[in-house]
Amino acid sequence: MIWVAKLQGLAIDAEVVMEELSYENLRRQIDVNGNPKKMVCDFFSFSNPLLFRLKMAHKIKTITQILNEITGEASAVGVVAKVNERVTSANNGQIPETDSFLDEFEIVGRGVDISRIVSIVLDTTTHDRISVLPIVGMGGLGKTTVAKAVFNHELVEAHFDETIWVCVTASFDEKKILRAILESLTNFPSGLDSMDAILRRLQKELEGKRYFLVLDDVWNENFELWNNLMSLLLKITNSVGNRILVTTRSEEAGKVVKTFPIYRLAKLSDDECWLIFKERASPNGLPLTQELEVMKNVLAEQFGGIPLVAKVVGGSVQVKTRRETLLMSTLETLIMNPLHNENDILSILRLSVDHLPNSSLKQCFAYFSNFPKGYNFEKEQLIQCWMAEGFIQPSDQAGYETMEDIGDKYFNILLAHSLFQDIVKDENGKITHCKMHHLLHDLAYSISKCAACGSDVIGLNDSVSQIRQLSLIGCENNIPLPSIRSMRNLRSLFLDRDVFGHEILSFKRLCVLNISRCEICSLPTSIGRLKHLRYLDVSNNMIKELPKSIVKLYKLQTLRLGCFHGEAPKNFRKLISLRHFYMDIKRPTSRHMPRYLGRLVDLQSLPFFVFGMDKALI
Ligand SMILES: Nc1ncnc2c1ncn2[C@@H]1O[C@H](COP(=O)(O)OP(=O)(O)OP(=O)(O)O)[C@@H](O)[C@H]1O
Ligand SMILES: [Mg+2]
Repeated sequence: MIWVAKLQGLAIDAEVVMEELSYENLRRQIDVNGNPKKMVCDFFSFSNPLLFRLKMAHKIKTITQILNEITGEASAVGVVAKVNERVTSANNGQIPETDSFLDEFEIVGRGVDISRIVSIVLDTTTHDRISVLPIVGMGGLGKTTVAKAVFNHELVEAHFDETIWVCVTASFDEKKILRAILESLTNFPSGLDSMDAILRRLQKELEGKRYFLVLDDVWNENFELWNNLMSLLLKITNSVGNRILVTTRSEEAGKVVKTFPIYRLAKLSDDECWLIFKERASPNGLPLTQELEVMKNVLAEQFGGIPLVAKVVGGSVQVKTRRETLLMSTLETLIMNPLHNENDILSILRLSVDHLPNSSLKQCFAYFSNFPKGYNFEKEQLIQCWMAEGFIQPSDQAGYETMEDIGDKYFNILLAHSLFQDIVKDENGKITHCKMHHLLHDLAYSISKCAACGSDVIGLNDSVSQIRQLSLIGCENNIPLPSIRSMRNLRSLFLDRDVFGHEILSFKRLCVLNISRCEICSLPTSIGRLKHLRYLDVSNNMIKELPKSIVKLYKLQTLRLGCFHGEAPKNFRKLISLRHFYMDIKRPTSRHMPRYLGRLVDLQSLPFFVFGMDKALI
């Protein structure tokens, strides 16, 4: 419908006007207020307040006119306005409280599978230098979980000198795999690019040793590529009895790699699925409601033996307020669409996301598509990006909840819905990192309007101007990119190499810019033109100086500099929205703290402090 497209466009225009107004408001607070000289200058400049007001008034009038037209067109087809419950941050009060202790889970069943696989892996009658056992099964069936159990099995740990885990997932690139093997052995980023250097280091690490290697989530069905990898692995060590365990959804991929017969993982029994569901639906061990117990048999059967489905549906049921509606619609969908393949599974998982308590949470979930599959998310970073994108708004009630508190709550809700896994905690039991299952990542990708890259191809949506997020992290080189000008509504940009150079400034509406590890030496001098930026990560580069104009980023909430040796710009205190400021604390070579840091009243994270006689705290 044309009016729907018009409405979408109009929503973007309205958002831009709001952003402009909020920036101007901050600018006037910082630059002009109480400074008569500045007021006069302002009058003769482009930011003349009178001109600005006229321009904005004109824009608002146009938006209202178009909105009236759309209302007419919509009511002609029977769409009428309805007074609805307000979905804002004030609504957060209604979000059910949840805990974050779902990460450690017991493997249900699979005891027989695990011991069979362990005995194949430990089989001493095979004297090949490398033998390969593929585990094959559909998505979400538990292949990775079983492989992990085998990997950590005491007999396996005792039998092999080295155990190595590599998540292959994206394109099958032998150099990447060998580098990942090396990094897993040394626990350190290798920084090596030449194949020869990687092989030499691997020879040194593995000389005379027997290893067990897991290649998780392999998609390669090409014999030649696999043989190349094998011949390289054979060059590394002469020892016999090395084993490779491959997990894959593809039968073909299994045939390509196998030296042992393929291990086809069976589905879990209904009872086992029910146990997983129950653990998620009632994580504190309380008995389930009678209503659920009555449905047990019907429901358990519909999980189709897929643990991921039982887990995610269980997670959604735990969130009490929506339980009944969710349960009914989930049951109906499950009964109507028995789970045959990954698409059926995706549609069931989608239900769980559809029933998240509010639309901001759905946006937060979809935001995961900006990161590659298997990515280890840093919780703090994630929440700061959500804030920057505007998914989390400050609470109306002063002193009530900070945006970070709300972000924390959102994170816990997604966790309780079983949408995260592989939780990592620090020594105080606080969650620091998490991962997302591949199928759920696919779901996030299909929901978002993001142009994150899949394997090699950039999955651009039909309308380039609608793209709000672009991520090239982990993408292969030479991806055809649409012209920068056509991506005028881009709000988040994640790069791991410097593809745009100073043209980054053309993305005028950016809120999130992550250009860490791009090997850049300087930022564009007029970075201050990206006035809507709220999150800027330039860590792990070789930047020696920050451009002066950075202090014009009045909306900036998070600044990640990483290992930065320069001085902060003089007017650093103008960054009045700054809440999180990170610099590498191991080597704080800057001699002073930025001046007047004490005036940044919203500052919450500052993991370093240089003592001195300066004016940092004033
Ligand atoms: N036996 C089990 N008991 C409890 N939970 C399980 C079990 N098996 C799998 N799970 C849970 O189900 C989810 C999916 O499992 P897993 O990632 O192992 O599937 P997979 O077969 O590797 O999927 P994919 O093909 O997408 O990689 C995981 O989050 C895991 O926690
Ligand atoms: Mg897997």
